[in-house]
Amino acid sequence: MKIQLRLLFFHCYVLVPISAAKSDIAIDYNQQSWISDTNMSLIIGLSYPFSACCNIYLDGLDEIEPIFKQFRRIYPHEYLLEKTSFECFGNLVLAATEEQVVMELSRISTAISKSEILVILDKRIESNSSVLNATLYKNSDVNLVSRYGIWKLSENYLLPRSFTKVDRYEELAYSKKGLVDMMGREVHAASFFRPPLSYLKTSINKTINGIPTKIYVTNNEQEMDGIELKLFLIMAEKLNFTYTIREPDGPNRYGIPINDTTWEGGMIGQLHKKQIDIAFASIWQTIHHHKFVNLTEPWYQIFMHFLVPRPKPYTSFWALTRPLSTSVWIALLIIIFLQSLSIYLQAWIDPKIPKRFRDFILTLTETIGRLLGTCVPESCTEVRVQMHIWHAAGVIIVTAYSSSLAARLASSEYEPRIDTIDQFVHSELRWGRIKIKPFREDYFNIEEAYTSDIPDRFIPLETEEEQRKYFATGKYAAVGRVVDSIFFPDDNITNEDLENLRVMKDAIGKFYSSFAVQPWLLNPVNKVMLWLKESGITFFHLRDVIRRRTGLHLREVLVEHDGSDGDARVLTLTPLGAGFSMLIVGLFLSTFVFYLELKSVGDFESYKSRQKLFIGRGE
Ligand SMILES: *[C@@H]1O[C@H](CO)[C@@H](O)[C@H](O)[C@H]1NC(C)=O
Ligand SMILES: *[C@@H]1O[C@H](CO)[C@@H](O)[C@H](O)[C@H]1NC(C)=O
Ligand SMILES: *[C@@H]1O[C@H](CO)[C@@H](O)[C@H](O)[C@H]1NC(C)=O
Ligand SMILES: *[C@@H]1O[C@H](CO)[C@@H](O)[C@H](O)[C@H]1NC(C)=O
Repeated sequence: MKIQLRLLFFHCYVLVPISAAKSDIAIDYNQQSWISDTNMSLIIGLSYPFSACCNIYLDGLDEIEPIFKQFRRIYPHEYLLEKTSFECFGNLVLAATEEQVVMELSRISTAISKSEILVILDKRIESNSSVLNATLYKNSDVNLVSRYGIWKLSENYLLPRSFTKVDRYEELAYSKKGLVDMMGREVHAASFFRPPLSYLKTSINKTINGIPTKIYVTNNEQEMDGIELKLFLIMAEKLNFTYTIREPDGPNRYGIPINDTTWEGGMIGQLHKKQIDIAFASIWQTIHHHKFVNLTEPWYQIFMHFLVPRPKPYTSFWALTRPLSTSVWIALLIIIFLQSLSIYLQAWIDPKIPKRFRDFILTLTETIGRLLGTCVPESCTEVRVQMHIWHAAGVIIVTAYSSSLAARLASSEYEPRIDTIDQFVHSELRWGRIKIKPFREDYFNIEEAYTSDIPDRFIPLETEEEQRKYFATGKYAAVGRVVDSIFFPDDNITNEDLENLRVMKDAIGKFYSSFAVQPWLLNPVNKVMLWLKESGITFFHLRDVIRRRTGLHLREVLVEHDGSDGDARVLTLTPLGAGFSMLIVGLFLSTFVFYLELKSVGDFESYKSRQKLFIGRGE
C-alpha cells in the first residue's frame, strides 16, 4: 500500500513539470504572468486570510489577461467579476495604470474594516505614485503588488497609515486579527459617571481635532474606578495604546437616532461621526446601536428593574372578617338558612317536635346559637342526629376561625407588594428620569401587553428636588439596573428616599452590555474581551468594584420589610372595630325595639282605659 502511494506521488511529481513544459510551448512568452504560480498562491493566501469569496475589478484587459487567468486558476473560492457583492470582503483590483486603480477603488466599500484588497498593477510604481496615497483605502487591509515592487499598507490601528515597501511576498501577512501592538497610539474614548461601571466625574475643557470637548482627569484613583473602566485599562495595556477619555456630547449620554442615517449626540453619535474610537459605560446590544456602530462581545447581562414604594402597614376595620374568605361567609349564611328552614318545616309536619320550632325566627336564632356553641338547649330526640352533626360542624368552623383570627390579629398587616408590571400599572405608579428622555424601545420589551403602558407613565423631571417631591407622594417609581444582584438607580437617589423603596421583582428588560468601537478596533478589543471573560477577570472586577463601592442603602432595597418581625402586636380598637360596631348596632336595635314595645304597651293601656270609659258611658 505504502509503495503504491509513493509511486503515485512520484508519478504526479514527474508528470506536472512535463505538462507545464507542454503549455509553455503553446503560449507566447509575453502572455505569461510575471508572478510564478507558487508566489500567486502565497499572495492569495496572505491577502485574503478571512474572506472566502472575491469581487474582481479589471481594467486594461489586454495587458493583464495572463495574470487574471492565473488568478482564476489558483483562487480556491468563488469570485464575482465586475459585480459587487457586499457579503464578499475579498477584493482584487487588476489594472494597467494608476488612474485605473484609483477609479476601480471608488467602487469598493473601503470604509468597512473587514475589506481585504489586493491590488495588482502591471507597471513600475514610483514612491510618490497616487496609488500609494493611504487615504484612498480608508479602513481596509491592502496589499499592492507591482511589476517592480511589493507594498503593504500599515495596519488599521496605526495612524497615520502609510505604505511600506517589502522585499518578499511572505511579508505581506496581516497580524491584525489577534492581540495587536498599537505602539502607543492615542485612542479617543468616551464614558461617563455610571456606577458601578465607571466612576469618572471631574473633567477639564480641551479642544481635540478642532472640536471643543471635556476630558476626564485620569490621575484620580477614586474616579478611575468601575468595572468597565477597569476592563478598558486592561485593554490599553494589552493593546499598548494611550488614551484620553471624554464626556459624551450633549445632555443625552447615548444620543438618539433621528432617522436611518442620523444619530443625534451622545457617545454613539460621537462614534458614528468618527470623533472617538471607543465608548463604554453600559452600552446595550440593541438593534439601534447595531445600525450605527460596531459593538464588541458583551461582557455581562444587565437587568432593568423599577424601584417601587414599599408596602405600608395598615389596620383594617374589617380585620375580624379576614380569616374567612367572602365565599366561605356566603356558604355559611346559606347553610344556616337551610338548616333553620329544614327544622322549621319538620316542626310543622311532625307534632312530636317541640312547638317552639314552628316560629322561624326562633328556629334561626337557635340554629346560630347551636353552631357557635353558645346555646345549651333542651334535648329533643326527634332531630337529634341532625343537631349532633350541626354541633360538630360548628366546633370545626369556630375553631378554624378563631385560630386564624388570632394569628392574623397578632401580626402586622401590609398593603400588597408591587412585583409585576401588571401590578405596577394597576397601582397608578408613575416614573421618570432627570433631564433625560429614555428611548422607548431601549428600555422595554414592547411586545408584552402591559409593558406598552409603562412608557406612557413617564414624567420628565428637571431636578433632584422635583424627584424627591414625587417620591414623597408615594406614587412614583425610579428606574435602575441590577448588576450582580445589586440595584443601581439610573438617577441619584438620597438615602432617606431609598429607605421607603424596594426593588420590584419582575425585570422590565434585560440587556447585554458591551463596548462600542470603530470597526478597526473590533477584532483586537473582542480578542481581549473574550480573554477577560474566559479567565474570569471580568467577574473579579465585577465583585471587587461592587464590594468596595456599594453602600448599605443600595443593599437594603433588596430586603423586604413587610414580613412578620416575630413580635406579637397589642390589639387596638381598629382590628376589633367590626365586632364593637356589631355590639353597638345590636344594643341600639334592642333599645329601639324595647322602646317600641313600651310604647305599644302604653298605647294598649290607654286604649283599654278609653274602652272602659266608652263602655261605661254606653251602659
Ligand atoms: C491623497 O488623496 C486625498 C483624496 O483622496 C487628497 O486629498 C490628498 O491630497 C492625497 N495625498 C497625497 C499625498 O497625494
Ligand atoms: C508599546 O509601544 C511603545 C511605543 O510607544 C513601544 O516602544 C513598546 O515596545 C510597546 N510595548 C510593547 C509591550 O510592545
Ligand atoms: C435624517 O435627518 C437629518 C437631520 O435631521 C437630515 O439632514 C437627513 O436628510 C435625514 N435623512 C433621511 C434619509 O431622512
Ligand atoms: C460595523 O458597523 C457598520 C455600520 O456602522 C456595519 O456596516 C459593519 O458591518 C459593522 N461591522 C461589523 C464587523 O459588525
